[in-house]
Order: sequence, then structure tokens, then C-alpha cells
Amino acid sequence: MLIRITDQRGPGEATGGAGVSSPRRSTRIPSEAGDGTGTTGKISVRPARIPDMRDVEPLIRTFANENLMLPKGLDQLSRTFREFVVAVDEDDFVIGCGALRVYTEELAEVCSLAVDAAWQRGGVGRKIVEALTEEAGRLGLSEIFALTLRPEFFKKLGFEVVVKENFPLKVWADCRNCPKLHACDEIAVARKV
Ligand SMILES: CC(C)(COP(=O)(O)OP(=O)(O)OC[C@H]1O[C@@H](n2cnc3c(N)ncnc32)[C@H](O)[C@@H]1OP(=O)(O)O)[C@@H](O)C(=O)NCCC(=O)NCCS
Repeated sequence: MLIRITDQRGPGEATGGAGVSSPRRSTRIPSEAGDGTGTTGKISVRPARIPDMRDVEPLIRTFANENLMLPKGLDQLSRTFREFVVAVDEDDFVIGCGALRVYTEELAEVCSLAVDAAWQRGGVGRKIVEALTEEAGRLGLSEIFALTLRPEFFKKLGFEVVVKENFPLKVWADCRNCPKLHACDEIAVARKV
């Protein structure tokens, strides 16, 4: 399976489908790959490989430290790597990630969504969610949801704000262990696939 959504605005052919991911070097700024806007270089979204998880872990940790998402250790990420896609630049450098976690035969969650701060607002998050939405469709799911502090981003992608209690399996799996359980500030969003 190869999910690739190529940025039509960039020159040349994207790389990264079958090669081996390099370890996360440091934050790559968009200007190294394009014109500084984060939208000119080729960005593609592909299924994650286990070595990518070494890049995904610090990406998630950065935002977990800001209480924007739940932290995930490398072991946990390696166990669940099949749920993940990564957004990579033309050198296959990981600049974003996201995962699709299946809950029922109809429902999955978009989770662990993160875009390197240097690349935000350049369309990378949109590409990741679009790839996960396509994947949900291929799998035969009918609805995807997310719990988020960024509902406006999801609304741009066709999601609507819904009642959190619609997703008891999520609450059972993750929320019960969350320190914010009784003061949850996340908003549930969902869309049909
Ligand atoms: C939320 C996040 C994934 C968005 O990724 P991104 O690459 O910056 O988003 P995109 O550039 O693809 O944005 C798509 C659209 O949403 C809008 N958007 C993005 N972030 C937004 C925000 N915080 N508030 C309002 N709108 C937002 C963009 O302006 C764009 O709109 P447009 O299509 O009209 O131009 C990214 O900001 C991020 O990683 N944040 C930190 C981690 C986090 O909060 N993760 C939890 C998500 S559940």
C-alpha cells in the first residue's frame, strides 16, 4: 500500500516511497526545501515504516509538552506503526505524522496528528488528514472522528463538532488514563467518509 499525495505546486518528482528513513536530524526549515513558505517543495504522505517512529516520537513529544496531545513512547509507536502515515519532504525527511485508529467496523479516530512547527500553515496537516480519510474509505469505514484543541483546522476539512459521549470506546481506551479526564478541554469533531 502506498499513499502519496503530491504537492502539485512543487517541481520534480518526490522521493521516499521505498527508501530507508534516516534518523531525525534536526528541525528542517521549509526554506531548505523550497522558498521558505513550506508550500513549494514536494511534500508527500506515505505509510510509516518502523524507523520513522524515531522521528515521530520527538515530533509528538514537542506538542505533548505543550499539552496539545498525548505523549507516546517509542515502544508504543513501534507497536502501532501500521496505523501511521508520515508527511515527508523531497529528501524523505519526516515533517509531520498522523494515525488512523480503528474502533469498530464503522468508526476510526484520527489521532497523533502533528506537523513540525516550521511547516505549519503550509497545507501539510491537510494532506495528512486527507490521506487518512482516503485510507478510512479504502478500509470500508463510514465515519472518522478526532478529539482536538484545534477544531477550526478540522472544520476546514469537512469535520463537524459533535458530542464527545458519542465515542465511548475512545473514552474507555485513552481518556480514563488522561490527567485531564475531569477537566477535558478537547472538542470532538467527526465526519462521514
Ligand atoms: C493542527 C495542525 C496539525 C495543523 O497542521 P497545518 O499543516 O498547520 O495545517 P494546514 O496548513 O494543512 O491547514 C489546513 C487549513 O486549516 C487552517 N488551520 C490550520 N491550523 C489552524 C488553527 N490552529 N486554527 C484555525 N485554522 C487552522 C489553515 O489555515 C488551512 O486553512 P485554508 O485551507 O483555508 O488555508 C498543526 O498546527 C499541529 O501540528 N499543531 C500542533 C499539534 C496539535 O495540535 N495536534 C493536535 C491535532 S488533534
